[in-house]
Amino acid sequence: MPVAISNNRNRHIVLLTSTFHDSMEQDLERLRTEATSALEQVSDDTQLEDFRIKYLGRNGQLSALMKQLGSASKEDRPRLGKLANTTRGALEDLFKGKATVLAAHTESSDTPDLSLPGRRTPVGKLHPVTQIMEEICSIFASMGFSIAEGPDIELDHYNFEALNIPEHHPARDMHDTFYIGDSVLLRTHTSPMQARIMEKQQPPLRVIAPGKVYRCDSDITHTPMFQQVEGFLVDKNVSFSDLKGVLTVFLRKVFEKELDLRFRPSFFPFTEPSAEVDIACVICGGEGCRVCKKTGWIEILGSGMIDPEVFKMVGYDPEIYSGFAFGLGVERIAMLKYGIDDIRLFYENDLRFLSQF
Ligand code: FA5
Repeated sequence: MPVAISNNRNRHIVLLTSTFHDSMEQDLERLRTEATSALEQVSDDTQLEDFRIKYLGRNGQLSALMKQLGSASKEDRPRLGKLANTTRGALEDLFKGKATVLAAHTESSDTPDLSLPGRRTPVGKLHPVTQIMEEICSIFASMGFSIAEGPDIELDHYNFEALNIPEHHPARDMHDTFYIGDSVLLRTHTSPMQARIMEKQQPPLRVIAPGKVYRCDSDITHTPMFQQVEGFLVDKNVSFSDLKGVLTVFLRKVFEKELDLRFRPSFFPFTEPSAEVDIACVICGGEGCRVCKKTGWIEILGSGMIDPEVFKMVGYDPEIYSGFAFGLGVERIAMLKYGIDDIRLFYENDLRFLSQF
């Protein structure tokens, strides 16, 4: 910065002019440095607007400096004007750059990007056994059966005695019962619902009773808790062929095809005559495998004509009424329908298995 003062008038003017434009150059440089670092501190739109007003606004610092250009000498004015414009251009570029950065940040943090693919919400599904259970119930409902439910914790009376299985009857052994007390147990089948409904309602009856049952039993076709659907129909002149017809129609509907099935004579104390129904093993196609125990058949239900002794215990006259009953294993139907070779898979809660259905 020149400091000498001369007696020479012209020289004096030169020095004063030089002082003016040097100082303006420095002021522009100072302004540019100050504004650049101020802009670095700006972190939101309000601060950005304050910055614009202070440095680039009509009454801002840059405009104030530019107004001084009028006082510059003719020679210096173009250069200083150019420098001022360059400074303005540089600051405006920095300002725009900051505005873009702030807008992008706001967008990424607040505004959802509607072009992104949606996030999948995991959707729960019904357990495969529940799905089959619902299907079974709706097929019987379409055949005119009403649905009834009863307790899992049952009295010995309904589970056995009302079904013609008195104390010490050998048939009790087949049930592998979980006893809770002397006369209370976890029901071993859904057949107690026959007695519970019949003692309250008069024929004609057409009822199914779905639910969980419990037996101390476990292998590839048996689980300690499984589900049955009891079905019974009581009216005048009901015959074994009605039973056969209803079950055949039901099985065709649930498996959605013609099936190889067989009615095999059996024994239940509460039906006479009795039959179990087997279906050709879908795992081996009837060839014989570990699931069907090399027989080529899998048992899915027990059935028969309701024993007159059961009718007498609920007060029905067996001379007037006859009826059939059946109890089917829901997991067995699910195994055959989906080709599953171990019933226990249903209750291991492995989502890789369950989510396939
Ligand atoms: C009964 O439970 C009789 N209450 C069925 C009945 C009802 C007969 C009405 C006559 C009239 P059973 O013990 O056979 O019968 O069982 C019926 C079906 O349940 C079997 O065919 C089988 O499909 C299924 N089942 C039996 N035990 C198990 C088990 N531990 N795990 C899975 N399913 C089973």
